[in-house]
Amino acid sequence: MFKRLIEDIDSIRQRDPAARSRFEVFLTYPGLHAVRWHRMANWFWRNRFYLLGRWTSHWGRWLTGIEIHPGAKIGRRLFIDHGMGVVIGETAEVGDDVTLYHGVTLGGTSPAENSDAQRNQKRHPTLQNGVIVGSGAQILGPITVGADARVGANAVVTKDVPPGCTAIGIPARLIACKDPEAQKTFVAYGTPGDIADPTQRALDTMRAQLNALATRVEELEGELSKRDAAARDAAERERRTQDA
Ligand SMILES: CC(C)(COP(=O)(O)OP(=O)(O)OC[C@H]1O[C@@H](n2cnc3c(N)ncnc32)[C@H](O)[C@@H]1OP(=O)(O)O)[C@@H](O)C(=O)NCCC(=O)NCCS
Repeated sequence: MFKRLIEDIDSIRQRDPAARSRFEVFLTYPGLHAVRWHRMANWFWRNRFYLLGRWTSHWGRWLTGIEIHPGAKIGRRLFIDHGMGVVIGETAEVGDDVTLYHGVTLGGTSPAENSDAQRNQKRHPTLQNGVIVGSGAQILGPITVGADARVGANAVVTKDVPPGCTAIGIPARLIACKDPEAQKTFVAYGTPGDIADPTQRALDTMRAQLNALATRVEELEGELSKRDAAARDAAERERRTQDA
C-alpha cells in the first residue's frame, strides 16, 4: 500500500510542473486523496458492502470535491489535477497513467431506470491507458477513448476516440491522430511545449530588438572611430604641411 502511494505521488510529480516535493503532493493534492478514498470505497463495493462503499465515497467527495462512484474501475497512477468538480460514474473504467483536469465528467447516457438490469449495464465511458482529458470535458456514454488519446478542455465527447487522437469541441471532432507510441510521452495539459507562451514570445521579440539595437550601436561606434581616425590623420597632415 505504501509502495502504491509513493508510486502515485511520484507519478504526480512527473506530471505536474507545479509539484515541488513528495510531501507537498501528499499533503495538498486532492486528486491523490480522492483516489485513496476511492480504493477504500471500491474495496467495500467489491465485497458487497454497498452502503459502506457509497458512504466512504461520499466522504471522499465531501473532502476533495471529486466524486468517484465506488463501483468505478480505476487503474494505477490516475492523476486528477486540481480535481474540483470531477465526476466518475459507476460503470466507468479508467486505465493506467490517465490524467484528468478539474470539471471532467465520465458520465452515463442511457436513462437509468430503477431496475437491476439497467443498473448493471455499462453506461459510462472507458478511458484506456495514458489518456489526457482537459478541464471541463464531458465524456458521455459507454464509449471508448483509446490509449494515449487527448480530449480538449470543455469538449463534449459522445463517440469513440481512436488511440492517439485528439478530440475537441462540442460535439467533439478529431483534429489530429498520431501514432499512439509517439503520444506516450506525457505532456502537461496535453499541449506540446513548442506552443509559444505569449509572455515568452514578447520577451523573445524584445531580445531580438535589443540584439538589433546593440549591433547598430556597434556599427555606429565603428563608423565614428573611423571618422575620428581620419580627422586625426588629416589634422596631422595639416600640421606637417604647416611645419614644412
Ligand atoms: C486539445 C489539446 C490537447 C490540443 O492541443 P494541441 O495538440 O497542442 O493543439 P493546438 O493547440 O495546436 O490546437 C489545434 C487547434 O485546435 C484548437 N483547440 C485547441 N484546444 C481546443 C479546445 N479545448 N477547444 C476548442 N478548440 C481547441 C486550436 O485553437 C487550434 O485551432 P486552429 O487550428 O483553428 O488554430 C489542448 O488544446 C487542450 O485543450 N488541452 C487541455 C488543457 C487543459 O485542460 N488545461 C487545464 C490545466 S489547469
